[in-house]
Amino acid sequence: MRRLFTAGLLLTGMGLAACSEETDETAPNYHRDVAPLVQQKCGGCHVEGGIGPMPLQTYADVFKNRDAIRAAVESRTMPPWMPSNECNQYHGDSSLKDEQIQLLSRWVSEGGREGKASESPGVKAPPAGGLSRVDVRVSMKEPYTPKTGDDYRCFIMDWSVDQTAFITGFQAEPGVASIVHHVIAYLVPPAAVSIYQQLDNNEAGPGYTCFGGSGAGQAAFLGAWAPGTVGSDFPEGTGIKVAPGSKVVLQVHYSTTGHGEHSHGLTAAAEIPADTSALAFKVDSTVTKQAVVMAFLNPAWFQKKMNIPAGQTDVVHRYSSDVTKSVGFATGGLFKNNMPLTFHMVTPHMHKLGTRIRLDMTRADTSNQCLMEVPRWNFNHQNNYKLLQAQVINPGDTLNLECHWDNSAPGAVDSNWGETTSDEMCMSFLYITQ
Ligand code: HEC
Repeated sequence: MRRLFTAGLLLTGMGLAACSEETDETAPNYHRDVAPLVQQKCGGCHVEGGIGPMPLQTYADVFKNRDAIRAAVESRTMPPWMPSNECNQYHGDSSLKDEQIQLLSRWVSEGGREGKASESPGVKAPPAGGLSRVDVRVSMKEPYTPKTGDDYRCFIMDWSVDQTAFITGFQAEPGVASIVHHVIAYLVPPAAVSIYQQLDNNEAGPGYTCFGGSGAGQAAFLGAWAPGTVGSDFPEGTGIKVAPGSKVVLQVHYSTTGHGEHSHGLTAAAEIPADTSALAFKVDSTVTKQAVVMAFLNPAWFQKKMNIPAGQTDVVHRYSSDVTKSVGFATGGLFKNNMPLTFHMVTPHMHKLGTRIRLDMTRADTSNQCLMEVPRWNFNHQNNYKLLQAQVINPGDTLNLECHWDNSAPGAVDSNWGETTSDEMCMSFLYITQ
């Protein structure tokens, strides 16, 4: 379907090149050219009650917003696809192709013709992806009504499978889409459950306050959801082992103030709805290769060694290491040291001062290979990225992480590694097999 559509676009372009005088048949119109693109690339968020500030569902919606749309697509701020495609390629790339941007720009500059509804190719493509199968669903135990503004809350959820199993796919199911800004799920092994239970006990109401992560250590990253994300199966034949008695911690960023000038956000506390978010998993009893989610960061940073002084516009911290030397320790002996590792998924993570993050490898022959780069970091659009082609790192290669921050805003204070809103992080979760 997608290929057909692209071919259609190319034909439109060729028609143009062939005749200097544009006819109404070749000039882009809404029903035939623009609607299929906008429905597929924008419709998931720009729908009544969705996270986008205005619906883009009808000709009137799109026509009314045409100048803002052109600006947003030409600057590539919309759709919000964060990674640089020059660094690597990923499954589920939602960015627009150059010719799609040109089509939208041209449609706007030529007056935004409507065309005829009968010309519509009828493409109402829902976002591609999703789990191939849902085996286990875990949910918040009780509804939670967030505080006004930004509220970062973690909820402990029971893992219901009573024998050792493998998670082979992940999908988040946010409850009230208009207030759930993003969620991150972590897996807590049985031995660490009491630490998390304590955090929960210390606070009234469902869950506990947590800002940039699960609130404590020893939890493995499972997956993230931001508006527009669809869940997906993990790479074929791989999965994350879960022991019975484990817990899932769901970190939810609620935002009840809306975004942008067209905000439909809710402000009065009385209007805020209660949310019950859930997670769906594909689960298998065996896999060909066990996967592990490893956190890559400089361990020294935990000791407040990641100083980000106030007043500076570009603070940089870097860390490099041959991960094949320490993977045995990092995975509790599951993987062997000094053996090649395969990277499948990358999840960069910083907080609000972050501006740029890059993860790459230096090969033994000194060549550099980029794994993931987010050139304009946006805390509100965090995600995990599945590499189109898994990458192998060999003993002798180094993995390099580089983070940039801007801490120059008026009233800025020195920042450093930590869990709260004024703290920062620089790390990447890696979904690996051996
Ligand atoms: C993943 C969800 C998502 C998708 C997909 C998406 N948007 Fe947005 N859009 C948002 C959000 C959220 C905002 C509010 C600003 C922000 O948070 O970045 C926004 C803001 C905008 C704005 C700015 C509105 C203003 O304040 O003037 C425009 C224009 C826009 N989007 C157009 C588009 C178009 C066109 C597409 C498709 C090509 C698209 N968006 C796809 C979520 C999305």
